Amino acid sequence: MFLPQEIIRKKRDGQALSQQDIQQFVAGITDGSVADSQISALTMAVYFNGMALEENVHMALAMRDSGRRMQWSDLNLPGPVVDKHSTGGVGDVVSLMLGPMVAACGGFVPMISGRGLGHTGGTLDKLSAIPGYNPFPSPDEFRRVVKEVGVAIIGQTSDLAPADRRVYAVRDVTATVESVAMITASILSKKLAAGLDALVMDVKAGTGAFMPTMEKSVELAERIVKVGNGAGVATSALITEMSQPLAWTAGNSIETREAVRYLKGDERNPRLHEVTMALCAEMLVVGKLAKDEAEARDKLQTALDSGRAAEIFGRMVAALGGPADFMENYDSHMAPAPIVRPVLAERAGFVGGMDTRGIGMAVCALGGGRRLPSDELDFRVGLSRFVELGQRIDAGAPLAFIHAADENSFADAERRLKAAIQLADAAPSALPLVYQKIRQQ
Ligand code: URA
Repeated sequence: MFLPQEIIRKKRDGQALSQQDIQQFVAGITDGSVADSQISALTMAVYFNGMALEENVHMALAMRDSGRRMQWSDLNLPGPVVDKHSTGGVGDVVSLMLGPMVAACGGFVPMISGRGLGHTGGTLDKLSAIPGYNPFPSPDEFRRVVKEVGVAIIGQTSDLAPADRRVYAVRDVTATVESVAMITASILSKKLAAGLDALVMDVKAGTGAFMPTMEKSVELAERIVKVGNGAGVATSALITEMSQPLAWTAGNSIETREAVRYLKGDERNPRLHEVTMALCAEMLVVGKLAKDEAEARDKLQTALDSGRAAEIFGRMVAALGGPADFMENYDSHMAPAPIVRPVLAERAGFVGGMDTRGIGMAVCALGGGRRLPSDELDFRVGLSRFVELGQRIDAGAPLAFIHAADENSFADAERRLKAAIQLADAAPSALPLVYQKIRQQ
């Protein structure tokens, strides 16, 4: 008979779990025969003792198999099924552009995205700012849009890796989220269930990143690349910069607006552009749509310049229930916040550092993120036109514009932003946008 406590004991004592141990334990999580206390004990044992690569692959696969697995082979798609996943950040609107750009280059992107988590924004929330957009189509509808448009960005349904959902909820309240092995299994279980041929992971590093240090970001990226490949999906990772908001904006409809303007070529934040291009290029290379990064970048630039990526985004929005004229009339479809006013620098100086997590929390407190899972978002609120690290500003110049629903929330965001943006007497040295690329050896 399967005894969960014996598996917990093994991991507690530093032994490796077999494939069967892991499969039985995860099956028990899914059917409810393993208790929350037992999940908590096992994840704490993993937190302290880690997992060997092989165990980690078995864990990711067992959690993948706890629910529905998407299949694409019967559709005979004329290109690879590829996706990107980010550990999350502030102003990280990359997915909205990346999906259509990669689709325009021949990839098929079934992107299952999440809601905002903590200080980080969620792709699902940004798209939900589009009136009529249905992020929960039926599986058949999802497949149809991916096939016909090349990309569909939707939300996670409860039948996808349900074991992870339960494990994550327990980890969240038992101080066991911060285990590289468990984070890897958790992220990959959902991506593997999407039936991908290739995956590129964007692991952020910096003051707005999920991982606390550069070393931990690298450790996570290396682990995901090894486990992803071990589980049969061509996986690589980029470590990218998150010591300031990536886009010019942070907030749901405001970021969606920036993504549309980027795709149409109205304006492109250079930092956002570089990170987006680097991730897209990696997807084309790993997905075998380009022989190297230079060829990939050429294709992607053509997809932008020809208007094809913008057209694909518009078709995806319409196919999922949004307005047919969204690309032309996005401003009239997404209401602005009643208050849009700058927060002003109290002294002159160089922008020396940013508490990017604090900036994300300011968006959250404005109503752009949730305090409780059941909270309704105010899609209108957020921040725009940030100063950048290293920029010299005068006293009284804008640090950013706050988009607020009322005066109280404006004042709160103003206080948070002033605390989060440090002004210094000298410019800090410039940071790279992509720190490292990690591929399977
Ligand atoms: N995101 C996930 O999906 N899982 C984790 O464990 C951490 C971040």
